[in-house]
Amino acid sequence: MGTLLKQGLFITFEGLDGSGKSTQLALCAEALSAQGYKVLTTRNPGGTAFGQELRQILLHSKGPVFPLSELLLFIADRAQHMDEVVFPALAQGTIVLCDRHMDSTLAYQGYGRGLSIDTIRDLNHIAIQGKQPDLTFLFDAEPAVLAQRVNHRGQADRMEGEKAEFHNKVRAGFLDLAEQEPQRIRVFNALESPEALHPKVRQALEALLKPLASLPNQENSRGQAV
Ligand SMILES: Nc1ncnc2c1ncn2[C@@H]1O[C@H](COP(=O)(O)OP(=O)(O)OP(=O)(O)O)[C@@H](O)[C@H]1O
Ligand SMILES: [Mg+2]
Repeated sequence: MGTLLKQGLFITFEGLDGSGKSTQLALCAEALSAQGYKVLTTRNPGGTAFGQELRQILLHSKGPVFPLSELLLFIADRAQHMDEVVFPALAQGTIVLCDRHMDSTLAYQGYGRGLSIDTIRDLNHIAIQGKQPDLTFLFDAEPAVLAQRVNHRGQADRMEGEKAEFHNKVRAGFLDLAEQEPQRIRVFNALESPEALHPKVRQALEALLKPLASLPNQENSRGQAV
């Protein structure tokens, strides 16, 4: 038995490396699938073949990557991802769970690297073609604590290799964004256990899904109204 949404939902997971984005995303995907929803898990950068190539450059380029060119590659990845993955999935009533999205670009390239926030907003706006995430989960904690969770992964990528000061700015940036858009961006304490966080994340999702499921134009998998 499925619960078919007429129009899907676009949900993004944000936070520093090691904050538990992928962990909570996977738990949500499992739970929503079990409820009968169509679910797609994906990520920025790298959610398409083209994006995978950009991701390699973005995270592992051997030569210097200047902040503006870095920004434009992230935006190119995002534009491709919206057209190739997100829009088609939403049109089919799929719940899209995306690991990092436009808020990461604002936090890292804007607050972190110091590029103009207004410029990034404009570029994000072009890339997303007006489709903001319906809901965003931000997992927040002290960068130094989070770094300890992931430092066994081996060779650090270009972002992970940045100094503590950079990650502190990124963290503050994420929190600033959440303060500006409290309805869309929900902040969670990343130091709570995955088991404690998951029900809270689910509760926010349910609040979004409930009114949709009760709409008369929603159909279940057999094409019957629910
Ligand atoms: N709430 C939590 N409490 C403690 N440890 C956690 C929690 N969530 C995830 N972890 C562990 O911390 C590590 C990082 O988690 P995860 O990969 O989900 O983070 P991430 O935000 O996706 O990181 P990255 O941005 O590097 O992909 C993993 O080893 C995971 O098992
Ligand atoms: Mg991850």
